[in-house]
Amino acid sequence: MLIDKYNRVHNYLRISLTDNCNLRCFYCMPEEDYEFTRQSHLMQADEIESLAKTFVQLGVNKIRLTGGEPLVRKDAADIIRRLGKLPVKLTLTTNGTRLHEFVDVLEDAGVRSLNVSLDTLQAETFQHLTRRDQFQKVYDNIQLLISRNFHVKVNVVVMKGLNDGEINDFIAWTKNTPVHVRFIEFMPFSGNRWTSNQVFTWQQILQVVEQQNSFLPLKNEAHDTAKGYIVPGHAGTFSVISTMSAPFCSSCNRMRLTADGKMKNCLFAEKEMDLLTALRNGQDVTQLISQNISDKAKELGGQFTANFEHINADAIHNRSMIGIGG
Ligand code: GTP
Ligand code: 5AD
Ligand code: SF4
Repeated sequence: MLIDKYNRVHNYLRISLTDNCNLRCFYCMPEEDYEFTRQSHLMQADEIESLAKTFVQLGVNKIRLTGGEPLVRKDAADIIRRLGKLPVKLTLTTNGTRLHEFVDVLEDAGVRSLNVSLDTLQAETFQHLTRRDQFQKVYDNIQLLISRNFHVKVNVVVMKGLNDGEINDFIAWTKNTPVHVRFIEFMPFSGNRWTSNQVFTWQQILQVVEQQNSFLPLKNEAHDTAKGYIVPGHAGTFSVISTMSAPFCSSCNRMRLTADGKMKNCLFAEKEMDLLTALRNGQDVTQLISQNISDKAKELGGQFTANFEHINADAIHNRSMIGIGG
């Protein structure tokens, strides 16, 4: 088992399949100066499978595939099929644009739950935010997943002045649609021009919902990043992810593997452990993984605190979100 200095058991691995994406969301990817990882530096399907098996031996029972956009990778279906054979709950976080090509593969691999990013219900705002005209495709694919009985969580990064006016439109969507909307506080990553005054906190989000709806708290699962709520009578639910104003690090069970095979013990960890090179050199990867977990900081990679109004984003040493995978 992978237990750190703070007694946190790590059983959840997020694997990024690629740092490439077919959208260009500015909060995730810097507009300029971003170079996608070269093919030879990416983990190959065999290497992903081998590292995943090692993590499973160390106690991992949940794997989430991320990106960039995991489904733009050419051998994504093969990787999903292989990981689907492991004794883990396999899930995916996706921008939703290619889901129609993958529903059967996902179903066959035993995937039951998916997280889809969709920050707006307006086609025009979608185009502005992602620099691509794919709103209808994503929306339709979410409906497709629901019709195929997948559990769908929709990730909405709330940014002041951009989409905070749509919070109650998302709640209205949950009335007749069994979709689980998650409002996320905007976080600082390299090149995303984060400023504290763009953060719309979870309390502010709840205040906006309260103006038009009454709601009740849901029971949360241990290790949940989200605090859940339901408007009585609605088919779907909503929740808030409060990384910036109320971090949930004390119950953290997560580890990450970047597409170039570096292990990150925290979303905000500066230090990375190069597992891919070790694997290619025939070194003992297990030892490196345990060491990386024992080095894990108590909160937020040790880089900042929940007092987010005072964060200097330039002083945080980390990758862009597109290179981590969320
Ligand atoms: P579940 O497995 O469904 O709980 O998904 P998730 O919320 O862990 O993953 P998802 O990829 O959908 O990410 C949703 C939001 O939560 C994104 O903004 C992520 O960056 C954020 N998030 C995911 N994992 C972590 C984490 O370990 N720490 C923090 N602070 N935020 C995280
Ligand atoms: N702050 C908060 N969430 C973010 N995501 C991407 N960038 C950010 C950011 N700067 C979310 C995406 C995706 C998830 C993996 O992370 O919306 O759903
Ligand atoms: Fe875990 Fe780091 Fe996320 Fe905190 S910020 S919950 S320690 S990954």
